[in-house]
Amino acid sequence: MNILVTGGAGFIGSHLIDRLLAEGHSVTNLDSFSNFYDRSIKENNIRGHQKYDTYRLIEGDIREAAPWEQLEHENFDQIVHLAAKAGVRPSILDPKAYQRTNVLGTQNLMHYAQEKGIKHIVYASSSSVYGISPEVPWKEDDTVLRPISIYAATKITGEQIGRVYAHLYGIRFVALRFFTVFGPRQRPDLAIHKFTRAILNGDPITMYGDGSTERDYTYIDDIVSGIQGAMNYTGSTFEVFNLGNNRTVALRDLIAAIERATGKPANIVQHPEQPGDVPRTCADVEKSGRLLHYRPQTDLDTGLQKFVAWYSEVMV
Ligand SMILES: NC(=O)c1ccc[n+]([C@@H]2O[C@H](COP(=O)([O-])OP(=O)(O)OC[C@H]3O[C@@H](n4cnc5c(N)ncnc54)[C@H](O)[C@@H]3O)[C@@H](O)[C@H]2O)c1
Repeated sequence: MNILVTGGAGFIGSHLIDRLLAEGHSVTNLDSFSNFYDRSIKENNIRGHQKYDTYRLIEGDIREAAPWEQLEHENFDQIVHLAAKAGVRPSILDPKAYQRTNVLGTQNLMHYAQEKGIKHIVYASSSSVYGISPEVPWKEDDTVLRPISIYAATKITGEQIGRVYAHLYGIRFVALRFFTVFGPRQRPDLAIHKFTRAILNGDPITMYGDGSTERDYTYIDDIVSGIQGAMNYTGSTFEVFNLGNNRTVALRDLIAAIERATGKPANIVQHPEQPGDVPRTCADVEKSGRLLHYRPQTDLDTGLQKFVAWYSEVMV
């Protein structure tokens, strides 16, 4: 297939492109190298892609007209849309920037797909759309979403833009709600990365709340398999799937697991909980198992060992 991946220099996108190129697909990566974190990390993420002549990098911004004009004469079979401003807490500080990238950017992409007759879009949504919905584990057909951050609100809007294009133009739109993804190349703003860095440097780690908040951590290779399941999905034109692990880990247990993986003790400093942070995330993955053949394989300890090995090799 000939595939456009947006945000392909980032954590999840670069792993997806590794797999797609290895399987013989042609990939165009549209990424702006946004300054959310260090550009050199993204350049490192994509270093292995350059050797493929089936790979092309376009540095461009999905909010602007220019990259879409540049891609005017391309014929993509599918788009995997991962470019976004990610992160819950910063979205509360700069909500308009999140709207522009995640909503306007997604709108631009869907307009491009419509004009080009591209009939299959896979979209990165987020577990944060469930917010403080009390009915765990969360199911895709929960009708009442209770987001508590602008980031989550923009991800819901992206799903709904997809629903409209599916309805009006028959474009298949598969939204994937990722649950806290981890593994090599994980974003530096995310807890596992921050904690590992601090523990290895002998610095204190900031724990928000009393350590009882729980997350469903999902290993990157499992997420990539789930994305591929969505790329192969041939059912209804609009569908939403959870990609999680269906197993929650308390923050204090996560810290203990990182201590095991690094072989060093954590010096924990407790701070009040942060606005926008939800107390618990937990995915029901029955639907993605049934329709996408999604079967998460990697447990937390194994994934953390791989993360720490990557961190020690690349980030130190
Ligand atoms: N990592 C997670 O745990 C997680 C959880 C839920 C959802 N998601 C979603 O998955 C997707 C990928 O997340 P990630 O963790 O790999 O993030 P990331 O920040 O590593 O990757 C996103 C990429 O998008 C690019 N980008 C940002 N704004 C852009 C713009 N305006 N135009 C073009 N490119 C732009 C960035 O440069 C970056 O390379 C995002 O949509 C994110 O919201 C991630």
